[in-house]
Amino acid sequence: MTNDDLEIKRGLKDIYIDTTKSSYIDGKNGRLFYRGYDINQLANNSTFEETSYLLMHGELPNERELEKFDSELKSARKLPDKVIEIIRNVQSSHPMDVLRTSISALSAFDVDVNDNSREANLRKGIRLTAQSPAIVAAHDRIRRGENVIPPDENLSHASNFLYTLTGEIPDKEDGKLLDKDFLLHAEHGLNASSFGARITASTQSDLHSAVTTGVGILKGPSHGGAAESVMKMAMDIGEPDNTEEYIKNLLNNRGRVMGFGHRVYKSVDPRAIHLRDDAKKLGERKNQTKWYSILESIAELMVPYAKKGICQNVDFFSGAIYYLMGISEDLYTSIFTMGRIPGWTAQVMEQFEKNILIRPRLLYDGLLDIDYVPIKKRS
Ligand code: CMC
Repeated sequence: MTNDDLEIKRGLKDIYIDTTKSSYIDGKNGRLFYRGYDINQLANNSTFEETSYLLMHGELPNERELEKFDSELKSARKLPDKVIEIIRNVQSSHPMDVLRTSISALSAFDVDVNDNSREANLRKGIRLTAQSPAIVAAHDRIRRGENVIPPDENLSHASNFLYTLTGEIPDKEDGKLLDKDFLLHAEHGLNASSFGARITASTQSDLHSAVTTGVGILKGPSHGGAAESVMKMAMDIGEPDNTEEYIKNLLNNRGRVMGFGHRVYKSVDPRAIHLRDDAKKLGERKNQTKWYSILESIAELMVPYAKKGICQNVDFFSGAIYYLMGISEDLYTSIFTMGRIPGWTAQVMEQFEKNILIRPRLLYDGLLDIDYVPIKKRS
C-alpha cells in the first residue's frame, strides 16, 4: 500500500471508534441525552447525585438505591491526611494541576486500585466523585491560609462543596444552581478527555489513571479551560459598551471568541440555554447584571456566525455563574472536572466491558535510510 492510498483524518473529526450507551449528542438539532434521557428533563427534575447514579449504573435509581448511593458519596468525602499534605506541598500550582496530582495520589490510598471489576469501578467512581470537590476546596483554603473544613453530611454534593470552600452554609438557591451545573457537565460523548480516559483504560490500566488522564486533557482552553477564558474576556471588555470594538478586533485578528464553537454541536449547545437563564437570574439576585449584559452583547455580535455552526457552548455562561457565586476564576475548570467524573467512570466501565486496545497510527512522512555519520565528522 502506498501513502497515497491512505486517508488521514486529522483531529479524528467525525470518526466513530465504538458504540456507547452513556450519552448521545444530536449536534444538528442541539440535543443531548444521558442514557436515553433528554438533558432538559434531567436538568429540570433530577439532581447531580441521581444523574451520577444514572450514568454509572445505566438506569435511574429507586428511592432506596438513591439513598444508598448518596450515603456512599457522603461517606467518601473526607480526604486521607497524606493527600492533604500533598496539597499543602503543591499549593502554589494551578488548581487543575493540584487536582490532577491529588487524584493520582488518591490511588495509593484506594483499596480497590488494581481491581478493574464493574463493582470495584463503581466504588472507585463514587469515591472519586466525592473526593474531587474535597481536593478543590481544601486546596483553595490552604492557599488562602485558611483551615480545611470537614464535610457536612446534611448538605447535598453541590452545597457541601460550596460550604467546604467558603466555610459558610450556602444559600439554597446557589446550591441548587451549582447542582444543576454539575449535572449539565456530567457526560458528553467522546470529547477529548473522555477519549483520553478510554485510551488509558484500553491498556487495562485503572480508573484512577484514566481519570488522571482526563483531568490533564480537560485543562486545555480548547476543552474545559474555556469557562475561565470567557470570564477573562468579559473582564477585559469591562463594560457592555466596549463589547463591539473588542469582539471585532478579536475576530479581525483571527482570534477565537471563547465559549463559542464546538466539534459536534452546529447549533446552540442545549446546556448553554440552561446556564444562560441561570446566569441572568443569578445576576439579578446578586444585583450584578453587568456580566450577563456583556455576555449577551457578545452573543448578539456572534449571531451571524451561527450560519457557520459557531454557536454558544456550555462554557459561555458557566464562568459568569461561578464568578457571581464568588468563586476564584482559576477554579472554573476544576468545577467542570468535578461534574465530569461520573461520565468518565461510565465510559471507562464501558471500555472495560468490551475492551480493545485503542492504538491508531500516524503516517510517517520523514526521510528513510539516512546514513549514520559519527559525531566528529558532522559539521
Ligand atoms: N470563534 C471564532 N471562530 C471560531 C470559533 C470561535 N470560538 N470556533 C471555531 N471558529 C472557526 C475557526 O476559526 C475555523 O474557521 P476557518 O475554517 O475559517 O479557519 C472554523 O470555525 C472551524 O474551526 P475548527 O477549529 O476547525 O473547529 P473544531 O471543531 O476543531 O473546534 C473548538 C472546536 C471548540 C476547539 C473551537 O470552536 C474553539 O476553539 N472554540 C473556543 C474554545 C471553546 O469555547 N472551547 C469549549 C468547547 S465546549 C466545552 C467542551 O466540551 O470542552
